[in-house]
This record gives sequence, C-alpha cells and structure tokens, in this order.
Amino acid sequence: MKRILSGIKPTGAPHLGNYFGMMKPCIALQEQGEAFYFIADYHALTTVRDPEAMREHTRGVALDFLACGLDPVKAVIFRQSDVPEHTELAWILSCFTPMPMLENCHAFKDHLAKQKTPVHGLFAYPVLMAADILLYDSNVVPVGRDQKQHVEVTRDIAGAINRTYPKAGHSPGGDGLFVIPEPSIIPHVATVVGLDGQKMSKSYDNTIPIFDAEKPMRKKIMGIVTDSSPVEAPKDPSVSTIVALYRLFAGEADVEKMEADFRAGGVGYGDFKKRLFDALWEYFRPMREKRAALAADPTHVDGVLASGAARAHAVASATMERVRRAVGLR
Ligand code: TYM
Repeated sequence: MKRILSGIKPTGAPHLGNYFGMMKPCIALQEQGEAFYFIADYHALTTVRDPEAMREHTRGVALDFLACGLDPVKAVIFRQSDVPEHTELAWILSCFTPMPMLENCHAFKDHLAKQKTPVHGLFAYPVLMAADILLYDSNVVPVGRDQKQHVEVTRDIAGAINRTYPKAGHSPGGDGLFVIPEPSIIPHVATVVGLDGQKMSKSYDNTIPIFDAEKPMRKKIMGIVTDSSPVEAPKDPSVSTIVALYRLFAGEADVEKMEADFRAGGVGYGDFKKRLFDALWEYFRPMREKRAALAADPTHVDGVLASGAARAHAVASATMERVRRAVGLR
C-alpha cells in the first residue's frame, strides 16, 4: 500500500494554484493509498507574525480541503505542530544536510536576490520539509512544480543517511532507514497562472482564492491583465491568461469555442472574462455549499484535526523510535 503525503501552508486562503496543483490531486489520491495531508503551520511561521491569523488560516485551510472532497476517514488530515516529531526529525536531518545544498534552494536565493535578510527558518525550510516527508515513509508527494526542488533535497538527504547507516532497521518500504519519495506533478496544472500572468502565488498578490465571495471574485477576474487590443481585433489565445484559467474549468468544446472567438475578433476581453467568471463560479458551487454546511458547526473541524493528529502521531512516533535507535540516541 502506497503512502501519499503532502502539506499546505496556512498563510492565507487557498487559491486556484493550490487547488489544481495540490488539493485536487491529493483528494484523488486518497482513494489509492494511505494518505497523510497536513497544514504546515511550522513552515508558515517563517513569515506569519499574527497569531490570530495563523489560527484562522489553519482552520480555514482545513475547512477548504474538507469542502473540496477530502474524506477524513480515508485520509489523515492534521496540523503539523500537533506532531512535534516533525521538528525533532528536522534537527537530526540537518546534521546530515550540506549547507551548499540549502544555499542553492530557490526560496532562499530569491530572498537574497531581493536583498532581504532570510531568517534561519527560511534557510532550513527544506530540511523541515524533508522531515515531514520521511517521518511517514512517504512514497508519493503530490505537489506543484515550485516544490519539486524540495522533494529532490529530501531524496538527497534520505540517501545520504541510508548510506551512513546501512545496517539500520529498515523502513517498511525497504530502501534503508528511510523510504526515498517521488514527487507527483501533473504537467498541465504544475504552475497555474495568476491575475498578472505570473505564477499564482500569495507573495505576488495575484491569487484567486477558491472560496472568495461573488463580488470580490468577479472584480478579480475583471482585473486580469490583458493587452490593449480593441474588441474587433483577432487575439492570440495561446498567450492569454484568461484562456489558461478557463481551461481549468471549462469542457473541451467550450475551450475550443473561446479559442475560436479569440482568433476571429469581434469579442472583447471583458466578455471573455465574464465567461471565465461564470465557469469558475459554477465549478466551485457544490464545494461552496458544502463549505457553508461544514462551517456551521465550528467544532467539526477541530474534531477532524484532533483525530488526524492522533493517527499521524502513531506513525510519526514509530518512525522516530527507529531513527533514534539507528543514530545512537537510544
Ligand atoms: P504552499 O502552501 O506554498 O502550496 C501548497 C501547494 O500548492 C502548490 N501550488 C501551486 N501549484 C500550481 N500552481 C501554482 N500557482 C501553485 N501555487 C502553489 C504548491 O506547489 C504546493 O504543492 N512547502 C510547501 C508545504 C509543505 C510540503 C511539505 C509539501 C511543507 N512540508 C511536505 C509537500 C511535502 C508549501 O509551501 O506549499
């Protein structure tokens, strides 16, 4: 039975990039193995400084995930900080992680390029991620393309430790002390674009949260950046953010119709944006209704997270016992 694991940071409301790049694939994979999905609040602490916002977004992400179809009986959903073994393993892994490997990671390099002073947590971020993954003997890690490098770092750290302790008790997968994980990235949604055509990201302020209210969501869609072609001019669908986003929701025939209307000219960007909004709004309608029903009982999410924490902890504590023994801490 395959172990599937992934995480999402509670740094704001989940957006279309999070949904198509990670949440939707995670929900599909809950049918195919033992799935562990967590809300990465330790990771979020590298940037979030408002404790109320941290708590609110943590519950919000859980609610969104459940509304989108995560089944808490099939999959384990939990809060990272409820399982302190994550940070214990991160320390052990960091003792085997060459500094240059972390200096080469893109989040750290981007920070330096912007002349910002990174905190140590940002530098060590990929090591904590490796701990998240290795703690559950994960085989498959469904993520967007921006996380691929982090899974590669995980594989390198796990390989180095497996070679250091060849006689250690083996993981159930049998690779050595740790299972070597594989990223799972779905090519056509690996990098969902945002309102300005760059990668959709909370840090670029170009996101469309999946459960925005109607008015702000409409306003965001109408604000998608386009060129200044007049209504009558033919337009190129292959470079359009509107078409790229429409493809996520619309059926093949509707996408072909929009592409043909782009090429023909005579339709303005405003009309295309309305079509996009309608498709988007309809797509999330059933999930929005489910979210409202779940939110009506505030204790429900807390219960789901508490039971997820207990199930996650059982696995994490067994792995930690194996690791402590292997490295001589017991
Ligand atoms: P986070 O919270 O930034 O994003 C959660 C997931 O959403 C994906 N994603 C996207 N996919 C496609 N297009 C986009 N525009 C887009 N924006 C975000 C991300 O790739 C990610 O899969 N470090 C992780 C959280 C984490 C984690 C882990 C993931 C912590 N530990 C262990 C996997 C395994 C993060 O910051 O995700």
